[in-house]
Amino acid sequence: MNTSKIIGGNHGLPTQAVGKTFKKLSKTTLINARSCLHSIMKHLNMPTIWMPSYLCESLLHESYNVKFYEVDKSLTINEDFLSQTKSSDAILIIDYFGFTQNQRIYERIKQKKCVSIEDASQSLFSERNTLTDFTIYSLTKCLGLPDGGMIESSDPSFKIESVPPPLDFIEIAYAYRKKRAEFDKEENNEWYSAYLSHKKMIVPVGQFDMSDLSKSLYGNYDQFEIVQKTRENYETLQKHLTPIRKLEKGISPIGFPMLHEKRDKLLSALIKEKIYPPVHWKLKQVPKKFSDSYWLSARQITLPCDQRYKEEDMEKVIKCVKTL
Ligand SMILES: Cc1ncc(COP(=O)(O)O)c(C=O)c1O
Repeated sequence: MNTSKIIGGNHGLPTQAVGKTFKKLSKTTLINARSCLHSIMKHLNMPTIWMPSYLCESLLHESYNVKFYEVDKSLTINEDFLSQTKSSDAILIIDYFGFTQNQRIYERIKQKKCVSIEDASQSLFSERNTLTDFTIYSLTKCLGLPDGGMIESSDPSFKIESVPPPLDFIEIAYAYRKKRAEFDKEENNEWYSAYLSHKKMIVPVGQFDMSDLSKSLYGNYDQFEIVQKTRENYETLQKHLTPIRKLEKGISPIGFPMLHEKRDKLLSALIKEKIYPPVHWKLKQVPKKFSDSYWLSARQITLPCDQRYKEEDMEKVIKCVKTL
Protein backbone atom coordinates (compact mmCIF):
# COMPACT_ATOMS: atom_id res chain seq x y z
CA MET A 1 0.00 0.00 0.00
CA ASN A 2 1.29 3.43 -0.91
CA THR A 3 1.16 6.06 1.79
CA SER A 4 3.41 8.64 0.15
CA LYS A 5 1.24 11.01 -1.83
CA ILE A 6 3.13 13.08 -4.38
CA ILE A 7 2.26 16.51 -5.75
CA GLY A 8 2.72 16.96 -9.49
CA GLY A 9 3.57 14.79 -12.47
CA ASN A 10 1.20 13.59 -15.17
CA HIS A 11 -2.43 12.98 -14.39
CA GLY A 12 -3.77 9.45 -14.00
CA LEU A 13 -6.72 8.09 -16.00
CA PRO A 14 -10.07 9.55 -14.97
CA THR A 15 -11.66 7.31 -12.36
CA GLN A 16 -15.20 8.70 -12.67
CA ALA A 17 -17.43 9.51 -15.62
CA VAL A 18 -18.87 12.93 -14.84
CA GLY A 19 -19.28 14.39 -18.32
CA LYS A 20 -19.67 18.11 -17.57
CA THR A 21 -17.98 19.63 -20.58
CA PHE A 22 -18.00 23.06 -22.18
CA LYS A 23 -14.97 22.50 -24.44
CA LYS A 24 -16.07 19.95 -27.03
CA LEU A 25 -13.71 17.91 -29.18
CA SER A 26 -13.32 19.45 -32.62
CA LYS A 27 -13.78 17.38 -35.77
CA THR A 28 -9.99 17.07 -36.18
CA THR A 29 -8.49 15.12 -33.32
CA LEU A 30 -4.98 13.67 -33.57
CA ILE A 31 -2.57 11.85 -31.30
CA ASN A 32 -0.84 14.95 -29.84
CA ALA A 33 -0.26 18.66 -30.39
CA ARG A 34 3.01 18.08 -32.29
CA SER A 35 1.08 16.05 -34.86
CA CYS A 36 -1.52 18.81 -35.11
CA LEU A 37 1.18 21.33 -35.98
CA HIS A 38 2.83 18.94 -38.42
CA SER A 39 -0.46 18.20 -40.17
CA ILE A 40 -1.24 21.91 -40.55
CA MET A 41 2.25 22.51 -41.95
CA LYS A 42 1.74 19.70 -44.45
CA HIS A 43 -1.67 21.09 -45.39
CA LEU A 44 -0.02 24.49 -46.02
CA ASN A 45 2.79 22.87 -48.10
CA MET A 46 5.48 23.43 -45.48
CA PRO A 47 5.85 27.21 -45.48
CA THR A 48 8.53 28.96 -43.45
CA ILE A 49 7.33 28.95 -39.85
CA TRP A 50 8.07 31.72 -37.35
CA MET A 51 8.30 30.34 -33.84
CA PRO A 52 8.75 32.18 -30.55
CA SER A 53 12.23 32.10 -29.00
CA TYR A 54 10.65 30.71 -25.83
CA LEU A 55 9.00 27.40 -26.60
CA CYS A 56 8.71 23.70 -25.95
CA GLU A 57 11.39 22.41 -28.29
CA SER A 58 9.42 19.23 -28.95
CA LEU A 59 7.53 21.41 -31.45
CA LEU A 60 10.59 21.72 -33.69
CA HIS A 61 10.73 19.26 -36.58
CA GLU A 62 13.43 18.49 -39.12
CA SER A 63 11.11 19.17 -42.05
CA TYR A 64 10.33 22.75 -40.95
CA ASN A 65 12.17 25.84 -42.11
CA VAL A 66 12.05 27.67 -38.77
CA LYS A 67 12.74 31.32 -38.12
CA PHE A 68 12.56 32.53 -34.54
CA TYR A 69 11.03 35.74 -33.28
CA GLU A 70 11.72 37.30 -29.91
CA VAL A 71 9.64 37.16 -26.77
CA ASP A 72 11.00 39.17 -23.85
CA LYS A 73 11.40 38.31 -20.18
CA SER A 74 7.74 39.06 -19.53
CA LEU A 75 6.80 36.75 -22.44
CA THR A 76 5.61 39.69 -24.52
CA ILE A 77 6.02 39.24 -28.27
CA ASN A 78 8.39 41.68 -29.96
CA GLU A 79 6.35 42.40 -33.10
CA ASP A 80 9.30 43.82 -35.09
CA PHE A 81 9.74 40.48 -36.87
CA LEU A 82 6.52 41.13 -38.79
CA SER A 83 8.48 43.50 -41.04
CA GLN A 84 10.48 40.47 -42.30
CA THR A 85 7.67 38.00 -42.91
CA LYS A 86 6.55 36.97 -46.42
CA SER A 87 2.91 36.37 -47.29
CA SER A 88 1.86 32.77 -46.59
CA ASP A 89 4.51 32.29 -43.89
CA ALA A 90 3.10 30.49 -40.85
CA ILE A 91 3.41 32.14 -37.43
CA LEU A 92 3.09 30.14 -34.22
CA ILE A 93 1.82 32.00 -31.16
CA ILE A 94 2.02 30.24 -27.79
CA ASP A 95 -0.45 30.83 -24.95
CA TYR A 96 2.06 30.54 -22.12
CA PHE A 97 0.88 28.72 -18.99
CA GLY A 98 -2.78 29.18 -19.90
CA PHE A 99 -2.65 32.94 -20.63
CA THR A 100 -3.88 33.80 -24.10
CA GLN A 101 -1.95 36.43 -26.08
CA ASN A 102 -3.25 39.88 -26.86
CA GLN A 103 -5.58 39.43 -29.85
CA ARG A 104 -3.95 42.35 -31.68
CA ILE A 105 -1.14 40.06 -32.81
CA TYR A 106 -3.61 37.99 -34.84
CA GLU A 107 -4.95 41.09 -36.57
CA ARG A 108 -1.42 42.12 -37.50
CA ILE A 109 -0.65 38.62 -38.81
CA LYS A 110 -3.75 38.81 -40.99
CA GLN A 111 -2.68 42.20 -42.35
CA LYS A 112 0.67 40.63 -43.31
CA LYS A 113 -1.22 37.84 -45.14
CA CYS A 114 0.50 35.21 -43.01
CA VAL A 115 -1.17 32.20 -41.43
CA SER A 116 -1.60 32.25 -37.65
CA ILE A 117 -1.41 29.09 -35.56
CA GLU A 118 -2.29 29.53 -31.91
CA ASP A 119 -0.72 26.91 -29.67
CA ALA A 120 -3.25 26.44 -26.90
CA SER A 121 -1.61 23.30 -25.51
CA GLN A 122 -1.38 24.94 -22.10
CA SER A 123 -4.68 26.82 -22.30
CA LEU A 124 -7.26 24.19 -23.20
CA PHE A 125 -9.94 25.59 -20.88
CA SER A 126 -9.08 29.32 -21.03
CA GLU A 127 -11.59 31.65 -22.67
CA ARG A 128 -10.44 32.72 -26.12
CA ASN A 129 -11.42 34.81 -29.12
CA THR A 130 -11.24 33.13 -32.47
CA LEU A 131 -9.23 35.45 -34.69
CA THR A 132 -6.67 32.74 -35.49
CA ASP A 133 -6.50 30.64 -38.64
CA PHE A 134 -5.73 27.51 -36.63
CA THR A 135 -5.66 26.61 -32.95
CA ILE A 136 -3.89 23.49 -31.74
CA TYR A 137 -4.41 21.82 -28.38
CA SER A 138 -2.73 19.11 -26.38
CA LEU A 139 -5.26 17.05 -24.43
CA THR A 140 -2.79 15.24 -22.18
CA LYS A 141 -1.47 18.16 -20.15
CA CYS A 142 -4.31 18.80 -17.72
CA LEU A 143 -6.20 15.55 -18.33
CA GLY A 144 -5.05 11.98 -17.72
CA LEU A 145 -5.64 10.74 -21.26
CA PRO A 146 -3.17 8.34 -22.88
CA ASP A 147 -2.96 10.58 -25.98
CA GLY A 148 -4.73 13.45 -27.67
CA GLY A 149 -4.47 16.68 -29.57
CA MET A 150 -6.94 18.66 -31.63
CA ILE A 151 -7.11 21.34 -34.28
CA GLU A 152 -9.70 24.07 -34.68
CA SER A 153 -9.67 25.82 -38.03
CA SER A 154 -11.40 28.98 -39.24
CA ASP A 155 -11.91 27.18 -42.57
CA PRO A 156 -14.94 24.85 -42.23
CA SER A 157 -13.68 22.70 -45.13
CA PHE A 158 -10.30 22.03 -43.47
CA LYS A 159 -9.71 18.29 -43.38
CA ILE A 160 -6.79 15.99 -42.62
CA GLU A 161 -6.36 12.50 -44.06
CA SER A 162 -5.32 10.57 -40.98
CA VAL A 163 -4.29 7.01 -40.16
CA PRO A 164 -4.88 4.96 -36.99
CA PRO A 165 -2.45 5.64 -34.12
CA PRO A 166 0.41 3.20 -33.36
CA LEU A 167 -1.16 0.74 -30.92
CA ASP A 168 2.00 -0.01 -28.95
CA PHE A 169 2.32 3.68 -28.07
CA ILE A 170 -1.31 3.89 -26.93
CA GLU A 171 -1.05 0.67 -24.90
CA ILE A 172 2.02 1.84 -23.02
CA ALA A 173 0.61 5.32 -22.48
CA TYR A 174 -2.62 3.76 -21.20
CA ALA A 175 -0.78 1.42 -18.81
CA TYR A 176 1.18 4.35 -17.39
CA ARG A 177 -1.84 6.61 -16.88
CA LYS A 178 -3.75 3.72 -15.30
CA LYS A 179 -0.93 2.96 -12.86
CA ARG A 180 -0.66 6.65 -11.98
CA ALA A 181 -4.40 6.75 -11.18
CA GLU A 182 -4.03 3.64 -9.00
CA PHE A 183 -1.05 5.18 -7.25
CA ASP A 184 -3.02 8.34 -6.50
CA LYS A 185 -5.74 6.16 -4.97
CA GLU A 186 -3.03 4.43 -2.92
CA GLU A 187 -3.51 1.14 -4.78
CA ASN A 188 -0.02 0.56 -6.16
CA ASN A 189 3.54 1.78 -6.11
CA GLU A 190 4.53 0.82 -9.63
CA TRP A 191 3.68 3.93 -11.57
CA TYR A 192 7.30 5.03 -11.84
CA SER A 193 8.44 2.01 -13.86
CA ALA A 194 5.37 2.45 -16.09
CA TYR A 195 6.36 6.11 -16.50
CA LEU A 196 9.90 5.12 -17.54
CA SER A 197 8.56 2.64 -20.13
CA HIS A 198 6.33 5.40 -21.51
CA LYS A 199 9.16 7.94 -21.54
CA LYS A 200 11.37 5.58 -23.55
CA MET A 201 8.84 5.46 -26.42
CA ILE A 202 9.45 7.63 -29.46
CA VAL A 203 6.55 10.08 -29.62
CA PRO A 204 4.72 9.65 -32.94
CA VAL A 205 4.52 12.81 -35.04
CA GLY A 206 2.39 12.57 -38.18
CA GLN A 207 -1.20 12.27 -39.28
CA PHE A 208 -2.12 9.84 -36.52
CA ASP A 209 -5.65 9.83 -35.13
CA MET A 210 -6.37 10.33 -31.48
CA SER A 211 -7.18 6.89 -30.07
CA ASP A 212 -10.86 5.95 -29.67
CA LEU A 213 -10.02 5.19 -26.05
CA SER A 214 -8.91 8.77 -25.35
CA LYS A 215 -11.84 10.17 -27.31
CA SER A 216 -14.27 8.31 -25.08
CA LEU A 217 -12.38 9.22 -21.88
CA TYR A 218 -12.37 12.92 -22.82
CA GLY A 219 -16.07 13.08 -21.93
CA ASN A 220 -15.51 11.77 -18.39
CA TYR A 221 -14.46 15.06 -16.80
CA ASP A 222 -16.12 17.88 -14.97
CA GLN A 223 -14.34 20.65 -16.86
CA PHE A 224 -16.01 23.37 -14.77
CA GLU A 225 -14.56 21.86 -11.63
CA ILE A 226 -11.09 21.61 -13.20
CA VAL A 227 -11.14 25.33 -13.97
CA GLN A 228 -12.55 26.32 -10.60
CA LYS A 229 -10.19 24.20 -8.48
CA THR A 230 -7.11 25.16 -10.47
CA ARG A 231 -7.97 28.85 -10.18
CA GLU A 232 -8.60 28.54 -6.44
CA ASN A 233 -5.24 26.85 -5.91
CA TYR A 234 -3.50 29.49 -8.05
CA GLU A 235 -5.09 32.21 -5.91
CA THR A 236 -3.90 30.50 -2.73
CA LEU A 237 -0.36 30.39 -4.11
CA GLN A 238 -0.36 33.97 -5.36
CA LYS A 239 -1.21 35.26 -1.87
CA HIS A 240 2.27 34.14 -0.80
CA LEU A 241 4.37 33.75 -3.96
CA THR A 242 4.88 35.86 -7.08
CA PRO A 243 3.78 34.27 -10.36
CA ILE A 244 5.06 35.32 -13.78
CA ARG A 245 1.52 36.60 -14.28
CA LYS A 246 -1.26 37.30 -11.85
CA LEU A 247 -4.43 35.32 -12.45
CA GLU A 248 -6.87 37.01 -14.81
CA LYS A 249 -10.54 36.51 -15.61
CA GLY A 250 -11.22 33.67 -18.04
CA ILE A 251 -7.80 32.05 -17.61
CA SER A 252 -7.43 28.40 -16.69
CA PRO A 253 -3.73 28.04 -15.90
CA ILE A 254 -1.64 24.92 -16.45
CA GLY A 255 0.21 25.50 -13.16
CA PHE A 256 1.73 28.38 -11.22
CA PRO A 257 4.67 29.72 -13.25
CA MET A 258 7.39 31.41 -11.22
CA LEU A 259 10.93 32.61 -11.61
CA HIS A 260 13.56 31.83 -9.02
CA GLU A 261 17.22 32.85 -8.94
CA LYS A 262 18.16 29.47 -7.42
CA ARG A 263 15.77 27.44 -9.52
CA ASP A 264 17.76 24.21 -9.54
CA LYS A 265 18.24 24.31 -5.78
CA LEU A 266 14.53 24.97 -5.35
CA LEU A 267 13.71 22.05 -7.63
CA SER A 268 15.83 19.68 -5.54
CA ALA A 269 14.26 20.94 -2.32
CA LEU A 270 10.75 20.41 -3.71
CA ILE A 271 11.53 16.96 -5.07
CA LYS A 272 12.81 15.97 -1.62
CA GLU A 273 9.33 16.83 -0.35
CA LYS A 274 7.73 14.74 -3.15
CA ILE A 275 6.63 17.84 -5.07
CA TYR A 276 7.39 17.56 -8.80
CA PRO A 277 7.17 20.88 -10.65
CA PRO A 278 7.97 20.90 -14.37
CA VAL A 279 10.35 23.41 -15.90
CA HIS A 280 8.82 25.09 -18.95
CA TRP A 281 11.28 24.90 -20.68
CA LYS A 282 14.97 24.02 -20.79
CA LEU A 283 16.13 25.53 -24.07
CA LYS A 284 18.92 23.98 -26.14
CA GLN A 285 18.19 24.49 -29.82
CA VAL A 286 16.97 28.10 -29.89
CA PRO A 287 19.75 30.43 -31.13
CA LYS A 288 21.75 31.81 -28.20
CA LYS A 289 21.19 35.41 -29.31
CA PHE A 290 17.73 35.22 -27.72
CA SER A 291 19.25 35.96 -24.35
CA ASP A 292 15.97 36.89 -22.60
CA SER A 293 14.60 33.44 -23.40
CA TYR A 294 17.71 31.74 -22.00
CA TRP A 295 17.45 33.99 -18.95
CA LEU A 296 13.88 32.75 -18.42
CA SER A 297 14.84 29.16 -19.12
CA ALA A 298 17.43 29.25 -16.31
CA ARG A 299 14.90 30.54 -13.75
CA GLN A 300 11.49 29.16 -14.68
CA ILE A 301 9.58 26.60 -12.61
CA THR A 302 5.86 25.69 -12.71
CA LEU A 303 4.41 24.78 -9.32
CA PRO A 304 1.58 22.21 -9.51
CA CYS A 305 -1.79 23.77 -8.60
CA ASP A 306 -4.25 21.73 -10.61
CA GLN A 307 -7.58 20.15 -9.75
CA ARG A 308 -5.97 17.25 -7.87
CA TYR A 309 -4.89 19.44 -4.97
CA LYS A 310 -6.44 21.02 -1.91
CA GLU A 311 -5.50 24.08 0.09
CA GLU A 312 -3.36 22.03 2.48
CA ASP A 313 -1.29 20.76 -0.48
CA MET A 314 -0.76 24.35 -1.62
CA GLU A 315 0.31 25.29 1.89
CA LYS A 316 2.90 22.52 1.81
CA VAL A 317 4.21 23.86 -1.53
CA ILE A 318 4.34 27.46 -0.21
CA LYS A 319 6.18 26.39 2.93
CA CYS A 320 8.77 24.49 0.93
CA VAL A 321 9.36 27.38 -1.53
CA LYS A 322 9.65 29.88 1.34
CA THR A 323 12.43 27.89 3.02
CA LEU A 324 14.82 28.82 0.20
C1 LIG B 1 3.22 24.91 -25.54
C2 LIG B 1 3.35 23.48 -25.95
N1 LIG B 1 2.98 23.11 -27.20
C3 LIG B 1 3.06 21.84 -27.61
C4 LIG B 1 3.54 20.84 -26.79
C5 LIG B 1 3.58 19.43 -27.29
O1 LIG B 1 2.39 18.79 -26.90
P1 LIG B 1 2.15 17.27 -27.26
O2 LIG B 1 2.89 16.47 -26.23
O3 LIG B 1 0.67 17.05 -27.16
O4 LIG B 1 2.67 17.04 -28.62
C6 LIG B 1 3.94 21.19 -25.50
C7 LIG B 1 4.48 20.23 -24.60
O5 LIG B 1 4.94 19.38 -24.31
C8 LIG B 1 3.82 22.51 -25.06
O6 LIG B 1 4.17 22.87 -23.82
